[in-house]
Amino acid sequence: MSSPSARPAGVRITGTGMAVPPRIVSNDDLAKIVDTSDEWIRPRTGIVTRHISDESTRTSDLAAEAVRQALGNAGLNPTDLDLLVCATMTPDMICPATACRIVDKIGAVPCGAMDLNLACTGMVAGLTIAANFINGGAFKNVAVIGADRLSTIVNWEDRKTCVLFGDAAGAMIVSASDNPNQQCLFQKLNSDGGMGEALYVPRCEDDIPEGGKETFNGKFDTLQMNGREVYKFAVNALKECVSEALEQTGLTHEDIKMVIPHQSNIRMLQTAWKKLGFPDDKIYINIDRFGNTSAATIGLCMHELTEQGRFEVGDHVIFVAQGGGLTWGASLWRL
Ligand SMILES: CC(C)(COP(=O)(O)OP(=O)(O)OC[C@H]1O[C@@H](n2cnc3c(N)ncnc32)[C@H](O)[C@@H]1OP(=O)(O)O)[C@@H](O)C(=O)NCCC(=O)NCCS
Repeated sequence: MSSPSARPAGVRITGTGMAVPPRIVSNDDLAKIVDTSDEWIRPRTGIVTRHISDESTRTSDLAAEAVRQALGNAGLNPTDLDLLVCATMTPDMICPATACRIVDKIGAVPCGAMDLNLACTGMVAGLTIAANFINGGAFKNVAVIGADRLSTIVNWEDRKTCVLFGDAAGAMIVSASDNPNQQCLFQKLNSDGGMGEALYVPRCEDDIPEGGKETFNGKFDTLQMNGREVYKFAVNALKECVSEALEQTGLTHEDIKMVIPHQSNIRMLQTAWKKLGFPDDKIYINIDRFGNTSAATIGLCMHELTEQGRFEVGDHVIFVAQGGGLTWGASLWRL
């Protein structure tokens, strides 16, 4: 653990990691448990397979594996961490925070720890927190993890939701940099609780909104979703976030190496990119292999791209996400 210091020259992503449970579930496998088919799922969502964890695997297990890998890639020890942020909507327990359990599992005690519950927007929010704590001089190394097991909160009899999600964890280490060019140049977080009923997990009758009685899937503590509402919202949210990031930084499409969006539906991403005028090769897509992994998605994408050697120092990357809350946001980094 480092001691508080003066403000650093810059901030950078020093390591990435990811973890998925070994069990791969195909669309055909799902067709054996609900009335669905590969012909329905694939063209409408882009999803072909997803990883689903067994009951003994906890969110903190996937997260610990991802962050250990990210620390290794950053050349850091667990005890070098000042803060560990875990974005999740499927915590191991309500208390203690899943982040505390991860800190313990990886041997980073007494590192600071916090959970963020912002559904699929969690990783973007975590990166924002990390950048600001580091830029302020409070911390030198922050682990940001997005980890979710949505398989534990879907109704496996509800074909409208259970086919969409997968389990995973993605991690990034954010560290102080001596290079002033390395920076988080733009950050924006938004929420609108008034739209929360488009995607929510009710615990009891009172949690179901007036307009939601008809679409309630019959099971409390499982995800309820108005797919069409979320789809419309997500296309606009993505488009507006990316446009704002470009406007505020004065950068253009040509300046951006890659946009790393939350992956919830390939058609929705394609519609948003068409509206934005971005070429296809600047948008990373891996929903076909993982489905929607909620807070984990952006970390998975960043890790895969980093492993493929796709980035150089000085590249601009935009992270953009939207999800339950409803929440949406983006951050633009010069790597
Ligand atoms: C979920 C989504 C693919 C559904 O597509 P859609 O065209 O809106 O489909 P609808 O929900 O209107 O359902 C259309 C029909 O398909 C059926 N259907 C829904 N899911 C199905 C499935 N898995 N298999 C087969 N049929 C299905 C519905 O029952 C409905 O049938 P009906 O007309 O006989 O009632 C789409 O709305 C979506 O991706 N929304 C965004 C979801 C999202 O991003 N969530 C997470 C946000 S982070």
